[in-house]
Amino acid sequence: MNIILLGPPGAGKGTQSARLVDHYGMRQLSTGDMLRAAVKAQTPVGLKAKAVMDRGELVSDEIVSELIDAELAAMGPDTGAIFDGYPRTEAQAEILDQLLEKHGRALDHVIELDVDEDALVERITGRFTCANCGAGYHDTFQQPTVEGVCDKCGSTEFKRRPDDNEETVRTRMQEYRAKTAPILPGYEARGIVRRVDGMADIDAVAASIDAILG
Ligand code: AP5
Ligand code: MG
Ligand code: ZN
Repeated sequence: MNIILLGPPGAGKGTQSARLVDHYGMRQLSTGDMLRAAVKAQTPVGLKAKAVMDRGELVSDEIVSELIDAELAAMGPDTGAIFDGYPRTEAQAEILDQLLEKHGRALDHVIELDVDEDALVERITGRFTCANCGAGYHDTFQQPTVEGVCDKCGSTEFKRRPDDNEETVRTRMQEYRAKTAPILPGYEARGIVRRVDGMADIDAVAASIDAILG
């Protein structure tokens, strides 16, 4: 199974990917996470990407596509892939088709998380993650069971993303509307787009996705 989770910043791509990894043993390929790891490690890619990400703009198609290619090469052929935050431009969508063919995979579903943009700023500015294992939380919508302690690993250290401020979020949304939303019609023409109500609560969104995956 190979699926794309498509939706604007804060739509719930990362949240739902984490569940699919837990429930189905799929692998999450998040270009955002890969780029943040590169920034942290101060690799050449990370050094190039940092300022672009801090502004909320898109990193080059070549950089992110190379990251995806390397991940696919490292995966076993039977592990399902969840593309989270890739592709994000028409060029990336074309490259992904080539990469899937190269790695002997085919796209099953493009799951569009349909959300109301006004709610996204609140989702993003309230987001935090475990500094140790990366588990995702939210000040209002997804608190750890015990306050200040990660459900998954017990760590008490959390962090917030530098691009999760209102100004940068607005730029990220504009980038989505201008460059990413236009890739949908191409997938619609192939009959593989499944739309999910991303405004429902996290468990309800997960149930809708489960129903699609069958
Ligand atoms: P990336 O990391 O992909 O960020 P994004 O697309 O802006 O998406 P987010 O991670 O912010 O949102 P999400 O949909 O994962 O939401 P989440 O599940 O966390 O990219 C960052 C940057 O990297 C880009 O700006 C760009 O510079 C660069 N980049 C990455 N990929 C690239 C590419 N392919 N090409 C070029 N550049 C690239 O949920 C958000 C919060 O809401 C959480 O706190 C969660 O708990 C909560 N929440 C989730 N679902 C619900 C719900 N149903 N109800 C209530 N709360 C919810
Ligand atoms: Mg994410
Ligand atoms: Zn943790």
